[in-house]
Amino acid sequence: MRLPDSFLDALRASCDIVSVMSPYVELKRAGRDYVCSCPFHSERTPSCHVYTDTQSFYCFGCGAGGDVINFIRLIEHFDYMESVRFLAQRAGMSMPEDGGSDDVSKKRTRLLEMNRDAARYFRDVLLSSEGRDGLDYLAERKLTPNTIKRYGLGYAPGGWHDLQFHLRKLGYSDLEMEDGALLARRNNSVYDKFRARVMFPIIDRRGNIIGFGGRTLEKDAPAKYLNSDETLVFRKRENLFSLNFAKNTKEKFLILCEGYMDVITLNQAGFDSAVATLGTAITPLQANVMKHYANEVIISYDSDGAGQNATLKAINLLGEAGVTARVLNIPDAKDPDEYIKKFGAESFRQLLMGTATALEHEFGRLQNGVDTSSAAGRAEFLKRAVGFLAKLKSDTERTVYISEAARISGQPVGAVSDLVKDKIRSNAHFEERETERELIRGTARRDPINPDAVNYPREEKAERGIIAYLFHSPDVLPRVEKSLDENDFPTEFDRKVYSFIAKRIKNGEVIDIASVGGEFTAEETARITGICRQADSLPYSIPRLDEYIKVLLDHRDREDTKSVTEMSDEEMLAKWEEMRKKKHKE
Ligand code: UTP
Ligand code: MN
Repeated sequence: MRLPDSFLDALRASCDIVSVMSPYVELKRAGRDYVCSCPFHSERTPSCHVYTDTQSFYCFGCGAGGDVINFIRLIEHFDYMESVRFLAQRAGMSMPEDGGSDDVSKKRTRLLEMNRDAARYFRDVLLSSEGRDGLDYLAERKLTPNTIKRYGLGYAPGGWHDLQFHLRKLGYSDLEMEDGALLARRNNSVYDKFRARVMFPIIDRRGNIIGFGGRTLEKDAPAKYLNSDETLVFRKRENLFSLNFAKNTKEKFLILCEGYMDVITLNQAGFDSAVATLGTAITPLQANVMKHYANEVIISYDSDGAGQNATLKAINLLGEAGVTARVLNIPDAKDPDEYIKKFGAESFRQLLMGTATALEHEFGRLQNGVDTSSAAGRAEFLKRAVGFLAKLKSDTERTVYISEAARISGQPVGAVSDLVKDKIRSNAHFEERETERELIRGTARRDPINPDAVNYPREEKAERGIIAYLFHSPDVLPRVEKSLDENDFPTEFDRKVYSFIAKRIKNGEVIDIASVGGEFTAEETARITGICRQADSLPYSIPRLDEYIKVLLDHRDREDTKSVTEMSDEEMLAKWEEMRKKKHKE
């Protein structure tokens, strides 16, 4: 379904891209325009540009880009129509008649209401005789009534249909409950997913209940915690448990924990900046979310092996997101929950203050199991340290830690520094050779949006040049059409873009990034923005356009001659026929 241009124009006029983007990213002024750290990939230096004149954005790091609608599409994971509706709502505009397309945002609201009703039900059960076991368990975990209330904890009864029948009475259908992941299905029957479990509502930063975690009370049950499956409103990869509280913390840091219980105990002890991932390892999206609220994250995972591996992974992801990571080592307890119970909140605060930076932590690990009082031990340490230092991205950090490595290994700083330089060089060599090999093996990374591009690097560049030119000055279309038609564009994606804009120009319609959105996916729209952006730094001149055209013409000629030897007789005849027709036209 296509929305009228007049509506889209009015929508864009009332949704300034800067004000739409600013709740999601930290925009810094750069002349007329703005830059920010890209919300779509992890980066240290901002490479996402926002252009006020064209009301578009483009990230030179990852290629995300587009107009205001595409931004919402990418960041909220909405489809095109949802994004338009979202912006229209924001601008107080009503949507033009859209022929009753299914209303996803209504469905979303409905699921959120159902979750709230389910949470109320679980809470009521917890406080009834049926919830006795649950309440006993929480008391045994030393949670106060206040904490239970603050987190809206509840209890799911043991039957197979209790929640289902309750929600039916409130007017929800089984289908809705299944869509909301509250019911599970086996064969043809549905039943309550959470049974006989203590329930932890998962609340997003806007205060919506988006899902649940449920803990069994049985010892040695196969799944200690059960989490909601992903739904229209629940995305595990980008939400964090307790962020609704942590986002308002006065602390300068967030505390990243492994589980629900750690976070709740920390909160009860006065640390309201604790959050946890939702039964999965930390993702780049979550790292970015944390960065939004604090410059520093203290990782506070279990002290077992799994916890330590997860710590390393978190250090890397947070580092890439540009957040300072510190690591909490918890002595004499397996996790923060246990530590606070044993030693109290004040002692925990002392631990927090004494945390090492991620680098110090890593440096400590390099010395694990080596005896640096022996020459052999120092040599082993140095070997490990050089490998580690060569991989650091920041030169300042490298300099600091080279002198530290020199001190520990008893070598002069200059010598260590040379070793690290050699290592960097040989790493780079290795990577280069790898890329070469990949090219030979034909495993070079394919471009998922335009997979033909690797086969026609030169032509693809020319295609992009022509496309960008047409965006910039649509009036050159006749000049292009005189020599080329869409079949002369060898790559499928560029061909599609070209014929789309050519058609619009011929219909006398405007072409800009916004007009592309209805026709292409969000990722494709971002790519097209990139094509225009990169070309913006080039001068637009007719000789340059002609060069691009010539590249494609040369390619066509080569194709024409090359294939003759490989053709069957029928194909050859067809080809001749085609060529004769072309001659006639000219
Ligand atoms: P833990 O097993 O460390 O949980 O798992 P915990 O918080 O210490 O649990 P208690 O104290 O025994 O109640 C940490 C997190 O991993 C996820 C949950 O999010 C949990 O909070 N998890 C764990 C699951 O999703 N499923 C499981 O079966 C176990
Ligand atoms: Mn634990």
